[in-house]
Amino acid sequence: AADCFQRQSLSGKHVLITAGPTQENIDPVRYITNHSSGKMGFALAEAAVEAGAKVTLITGPVHLPTPDRVSRIDVVSARDMLAACEAAMPCDLLIASAAVADYRPEVVAQHKLKKDPTTGDGLLLQLVRNPDVLATLTSRADRPFSVGFAAETENLLGYAARKLKDKNLDLIVANDVANPTIGFNSEENAITIIDRELQASSFAQTSKGKIARQLVAFIAERLNRA
Ligand code: CTP
Ligand code: CA
Repeated sequence: AADCFQRQSLSGKHVLITAGPTQENIDPVRYITNHSSGKMGFALAEAAVEAGAKVTLITGPVHLPTPDRVSRIDVVSARDMLAACEAAMPCDLLIASAAVADYRPEVVAQHKLKKDPTTGDGLLLQLVRNPDVLATLTSRADRPFSVGFAAETENLLGYAARKLKDKNLDLIVANDVANPTIGFNSEENAITIIDRELQASSFAQTSKGKIARQLVAFIAERLNRA
């Protein structure tokens, strides 16, 4: 019975999840992107459905099947991801696991760029900042309970705590991407969750599916307490 109750911990809630990388076009055949398999976000979508939620999964380009009962919206760029999220609002819970490209080329060339012998061996690409999907959604009047991810290679908890504050989050999930056995393309993950009181809770390394269920249970408990 306790397990049943646990499983329905997100019953009646609309959960919006961002996942995967974004791609920012340079020209018709090239783009810049980030490392991201989307596995963590898709596992979270599956776990949230199991917990009774209505789930909208907004994902960049990934090679993953859509989990049962999840509404999936495919996007390419950061700006597309923001527009899709805004269209899917309101939600009760936002989990931002996407690896959004921070910059995009200022102009997208209409035709394939050709190597230019007059400019030597280099190429300068002018980049401009993309919108912050998560921070844009947390600054709305209908701000949901908001969970971000921080993928870092150094000063993990320090940078994660700063992002929690700067993006006005309820929780942030810190991910040590310098460790090759977790994060990005690996099957496993290990995480530390930081709350607004800067209390840290860690989950030991295990499959992304198990981490997702533990994380959803943790988030649901905090959301239902809030
Ligand atoms: N994020 C987002 N939109 C962006 C950049 C980041 O929604 N344009 C979200 C990510 O999905 C993640 C959180 O913000 O939940 C932190 O992303 P991260 O790349 O770690 O932080 P940044 O704020 O981009 O800072 P930096 O890359 O400079 O460390
Ligand atoms: Ca970033």
